[in-house]
Amino acid sequence: MQILVVDHPLVAHKLTTLRDEATDSPTFRRLTEELVTLLAYEATRDVRTGPHTVQTPVAEAEGVKLTSPKPLVVPILRAGLGMLEGMTRLLPTAEVGFLGMIRNEETLDASTYAERLPEDLSGRQCYVLDPMLATGGTLAAAIQFLVDRGADHITAICLLAAPEGVERIERELTHLNIPCNLVVAAMDSHLNEKGYIVPGLGDAGDRLYG
Ligand code: PRP
Repeated sequence: MQILVVDHPLVAHKLTTLRDEATDSPTFRRLTEELVTLLAYEATRDVRTGPHTVQTPVAEAEGVKLTSPKPLVVPILRAGLGMLEGMTRLLPTAEVGFLGMIRNEETLDASTYAERLPEDLSGRQCYVLDPMLATGGTLAAAIQFLVDRGADHITAICLLAAPEGVERIERELTHLNIPCNLVVAAMDSHLNEKGYIVPGLGDAGDRLYG
């Protein structure tokens, strides 16, 4: 898996406010969207395009346009929903599919409770949105789900990741023979005994919607 930690002062500034426990829900939601747009700019560096020529008022210009099939954006409910608007602002023609996943807070195992995705993802580029990559169980299961449907290029966009979770994903998904990328705003120190990212930002779902 290719990992990109986006090193940019605006990303760091917005993330710092997001982490602050004094930041209220409306501000948290707005900052999440803004951060995702910045991360998405990097995450879509290899979005597929083909040549496209247009006529300017002056002359013909050789350019590009996104190719078919459209990219698929997959927010993982619930917290990933807070990232959707920031992503589609940059990629407005993308199709959106949904995966509902929950982590059991005792066992830390992830399970899928809902899905609304195309049956056949052959040849599709997929962008998975989930603010937190903690133990990695949720993201590993989500990536496997998309691969089983035929996705052939996956990029996960997370606000924060823990090293333990990244290691787990790399370990569990070694068999994948498709490009798989992870774009994050920061790689944090570690997980605590409850499986929370340290220093983290708390429970993203609760801070967005609680
Ligand atoms: C959080 C978070 C990730 C997952 C990360 O979701 O948004 O989906 O936990 O944990 P993991 O890497 O250890 O699997 P949660 O299960 O709390 O659901 P929510 O989005 O509905 O709040």
